[in-house]
Amino acid sequence: MTIPAQPATRPANPRFSSGPCAKIPTFALEKLADAPLGRSHRAAVGKSKLKAAIDGTRDILGIPADYRIGIVPASDTGAVEMAMWSMLGARKATMVAWESFGAGWVTDVVKQLKIDADVKTAEYGQIVDMASLDYDTDVVFTWNGTTSGVRVPNGDAIPTDRKGLTICDATSAAFAMDLPWDKLDVVTFSWQKVMGGEAAHGMLVLSPRAVERLESYTPAWPLPKIFRMTKGGKLIEGIFKGETINTPSMLAVEDYLLALDWAQDIGGLPALIARCDANAGVISQFCAANDWIANLAEDPATASTTSVCLKFTDPAIADGAAFAKAVAKRLEAEGVALDIGAYRDAPAGLRIWCGATVEKSDLDALMPWLDWAYHTERAALTAPA
Ligand SMILES: Cc1ncc(COP(=O)(O)O)c(C=O)c1O
Repeated sequence: MTIPAQPATRPANPRFSSGPCAKIPTFALEKLADAPLGRSHRAAVGKSKLKAAIDGTRDILGIPADYRIGIVPASDTGAVEMAMWSMLGARKATMVAWESFGAGWVTDVVKQLKIDADVKTAEYGQIVDMASLDYDTDVVFTWNGTTSGVRVPNGDAIPTDRKGLTICDATSAAFAMDLPWDKLDVVTFSWQKVMGGEAAHGMLVLSPRAVERLESYTPAWPLPKIFRMTKGGKLIEGIFKGETINTPSMLAVEDYLLALDWAQDIGGLPALIARCDANAGVISQFCAANDWIANLAEDPATASTTSVCLKFTDPAIADGAAFAKAVAKRLEAEGVALDIGAYRDAPAGLRIWCGATVEKSDLDALMPWLDWAYHTERAALTAPA
């Protein structure tokens, strides 16, 4: 086996982490100079920035006017858990998981909340048949499985006249994929994924039916203050206007506003989606051209356009985990790809973030390096000791 020469071009930005993800291409710290640092987030200036973050989110994502959008603590996890702890238990639940984060939500519901739930799972690389679910139960699922690179292709299986709520962890899908708002009652995401924002703040989007559940149902368990969205049986509307439950980072808010401006400038959601599609396309073409690597997603219709997960398919590789680690380490050492090892609970391989803040030219530049790293490690496997 011949090892190709080291490619001449390196990606200008080697950051392909699946979260926190690469900052917007135009990012510069000086651009956050307008952050109202050292001021109260409840002062007019703070409140207006928080409201701008909510309004900008609605504009870019096309969230219906009658849906509430809140900025909540503890990133995407906080948003998902606050929804589950506040809304589940009113009816039976269906928990759907095909990778690590979805599995985490199953644990929450089955082991912690101890709710009567139907659990549907699929192996890494596969997906649960969304048409097989009972939507008169509350269905909790992850739109894009960040650790398996498998996503729901569309919302067609979800009936508009469902009786249950759909609670969707869309953290690695929002701003990258079309989300059918009429099919989704609760949608969560954080700023640190497709928008390249900062972690720790979660976004919680509620349909009118989700609000109705909050106002008509009181869970049997106590709720900590950071989960409480109602007072005296009424929604605390302020949360959805920028009056956050506790103190946010105004620096992180400013950074998110900058990312929203960038998204607007490049053409909004269609442009963001197109960037992700083109980025993931670079990798799928590379996989099609090489018989030693493949997408972990078995059905191309479910292949993620953000968290692209890859497996080495060369039968000569006996220890897949060690091989993938060595390839990732080599690429990191060359400064061409940072943080691309598969998630710790996922099958051995690589995961290359293709979200909207990643430049296609950087993925174009990375592919020859991947070829080089694979061949270098592969040759080392057969080299005499
Ligand atoms: C699908 C999914 N859910 C939840 C999380 C947790 O997100 P956070 O750390 O922002 O709470 C992640 C993070 O990668 C994720 O990919």
